[in-house]
Amino acid sequence: MTQDEMKQAVAIEALNYVVEDTIIGVGTGSTANFFIDALATMKDKIKGTVASSEATAERLKSHGIAVFDLNNVSEMSVYIDGADESDDGLNLIKGGGGALTREKIVAAVADKFVCIADESKLVEVMGVFPLPVEVIPMSANYVSREITKRIGGTVKLRDFTTDNGNLILDVSDLKITDPKALETELNSIIGVVTNGLFANSPADVLLLGTPNGVRVVTA
Ligand code: A5P
Repeated sequence: MTQDEMKQAVAIEALNYVVEDTIIGVGTGSTANFFIDALATMKDKIKGTVASSEATAERLKSHGIAVFDLNNVSEMSVYIDGADESDDGLNLIKGGGGALTREKIVAAVADKFVCIADESKLVEVMGVFPLPVEVIPMSANYVSREITKRIGGTVKLRDFTTDNGNLILDVSDLKITDPKALETELNSIIGVVTNGLFANSPADVLLLGTPNGVRVVTA
């Protein structure tokens, strides 16, 4: 089974978590794209969606799926999205695609977060994937110095502007043994919008694509 086939398998499995007649939160990235394509097969059974990025909104609309502004939505049954890394406590690193802040916001509104990923994303200790930190543009150099001073690692400015008009710092060479504390510490630096750790609010379910089928992981 190829990596794409595993992504597609978890995307299809995630349809089982879609609650009919409700609004569904939809993530960003290649695995989320497989989910959007799968969701199109049951688009008449849901009220609509909230997208975590402009790219996701475009793809949803291209399938004729309704996309709502989050400010017009007060309830969302489930948020379905990929991840760059997960540990077995369902703590995640997200933001490889740069959509981390909107992803965290949409996930916060949803009753349940179902993460979909191929098995390469499951690690024992997170930090192999560089941790994305979204920052207000004028604060980039300050935040970079503060991260180096307080946390360590290697900080690199990504050549990218987020949907929110901000910048991303990618922090590599981290060994994340206490993801909750690191998420909180990074978010306390002035200029940080948020970081890609989903640890204080981790996923509720992880659907992991393996060559032998989909493994369901719960904390
Ligand atoms: C987008 O900003 C990310 O959080 C994605 O969820 C993450 O990068 C996973 O993407 P893939 O499904 O493409 O691996």
